[in-house]
Amino acid sequence: MLDEVASAGRENLDADHVSRYDSKMDAEAAEELVLLEQLGLNEQSEVVDIGAGTGQFTLTAASVCARVVAVDVSPVMLNQLHTKIGASRLSNVEVVQAGFLTYEHRGRPADFVYSRYALHHLPDFWKTMALERVRRIVRPSGVLRLWDVVYHFDPREAEERIEARCAMGGRDVEGEWSRAELEEHVRDENSTFSWLLEPMIQRSGFEIENVVYSPDGFDAKYVARAT
Ligand SMILES: C[S@@+](CC[C@H](N)C(=O)[O-])C[C@H]1O[C@@H](n2cnc3c(N)ncnc32)[C@H](O)[C@@H]1O
Repeated sequence: MLDEVASAGRENLDADHVSRYDSKMDAEAAEELVLLEQLGLNEQSEVVDIGAGTGQFTLTAASVCARVVAVDVSPVMLNQLHTKIGASRLSNVEVVQAGFLTYEHRGRPADFVYSRYALHHLPDFWKTMALERVRRIVRPSGVLRLWDVVYHFDPREAEERIEARCAMGGRDVEGEWSRAELEEHVRDENSTFSWLLEPMIQRSGFEIENVVYSPDGFDAKYVARAT
């Protein structure tokens, strides 16, 4: 088996980075929740958030649905999430230290699986295995909302595109993503091309209903429905 903690991303296991995470990264959880509500999320919904991190989406969703299971391999991220849950009035969040490849879902199948910026930590073979497992968690007609760093450009443009992206990095690792961190993503993590990821999603038993690519070609947001 792949060691999912070893491939979780250096920064996600680093207490300094994790303590700064929420000020550095706005996961747009409120907007994401509105989208999922349009897709049917309500007070009866069961949601699994895989790669939940500090739980920006988890906590926002838990305020309106029946239960959220927050799954993550990083004990450092989950410590932060536990602290935030303790400070909230929420009693419907279950935190599970596990990964895409090890999480065992209990109870009724999920209505929604949410995952933002986590799947790219797995190499492509394991992404497929992960998506197969996600399909088994979600009920038929349930929704997978997958938002990740995905390369949406021709491979011949890769050098130029990646340089342009890395050049956008700042110097300040406190408040923004540094050039070194952007380079690290390309070098050490496993983001893949959209034209490789999409057949994986489909072969795993999902129909892609909608996809939005960022103009810079580095981000894709999918709504996929379990068939
Ligand atoms: C960039 S953070 C994103 C956190 C959160 N989803 C957000 O959007 O703010 C990526 C998260 O994925 C987690 N992760 C990495 N590999 C994973 C895996 N194989 N299974 C589950 N979570 C994983 C990391 O520990 C980290 O918390």
